[in-house]
Amino acid sequence: MTDTDNEKERLRETFDAIASSFDETRAEPWEDVAEFIEGRGGTTALDLGCGNGRHLAPLRERFDEAVGLDFSRSMLELCDAPVVRGDLSALPFADSSADCVLCVAALHHLPSRDGRLSALDEIARVLRDDAEALVSVWAIEHPKFDGVRDEIRASGGDFYVPWKRGDEERDRYYHIYDRDGFESLVTDSALDGTVWESDGNYYARLGP
Ligand SMILES: C[S@@+](CC[C@H](N)C(=O)[O-])C[C@H]1O[C@@H](n2cnc3c(N)ncnc32)[C@H](O)[C@@H]1O
Repeated sequence: MTDTDNEKERLRETFDAIASSFDETRAEPWEDVAEFIEGRGGTTALDLGCGNGRHLAPLRERFDEAVGLDFSRSMLELCDAPVVRGDLSALPFADSSADCVLCVAALHHLPSRDGRLSALDEIARVLRDDAEALVSVWAIEHPKFDGVRDEIRASGGDFYVPWKRGDEERDRYYHIYDRDGFESLVTDSALDGTVWESDGNYYARLGP
């Protein structure tokens, strides 16, 4: 196993362990995501890194099928929708098979730039020509990072953020982006589109 594989495996175990407490705090869709879904429609929507599936419900209202993908079995067990266990950097979906893709707050967990780039390229591969994806990552401007921005910059963006609930505390790997970093990742990928900041996240609306 490479260091990257080990990091991913640690993260998957962490998400398995925190799934039920995560579920208690993530019920509602984020506003930017709800706005992106509104007015869309078609046959198939994918939610990549779907977690407890909070964005699958609004997708189901607009698409014939909404499928979630995550690498955490415990997260997938919380989803009330069709789901597939898999990795963001090698999607088990056919080329040009999706009318819409979400990847919300998940890309930043991939522990290498190559992996994050592969994930964007995989999204480009599965999107139909006229379809769009919404991808979000945590932004360094997020108030959560007040006081640690220099530390994040010094480590090139690689940072561990603790998940704390009661006595439970677990570190999760994140790559924390500044705008230039996220825009350059998008530019280097097979996707093209617009980046904006909202509520401490960068969002990108992207097409192939
Ligand atoms: C912070 S949660 C966000 C969940 C959901 N998208 C939301 O908006 O609530 C990140 C999710 O990405 C999943 N994840 C992280 N790395 C992954 C990978 N390499 N492949 C598949 N899923 C991954 C985690 O298991 C977790 O469910």
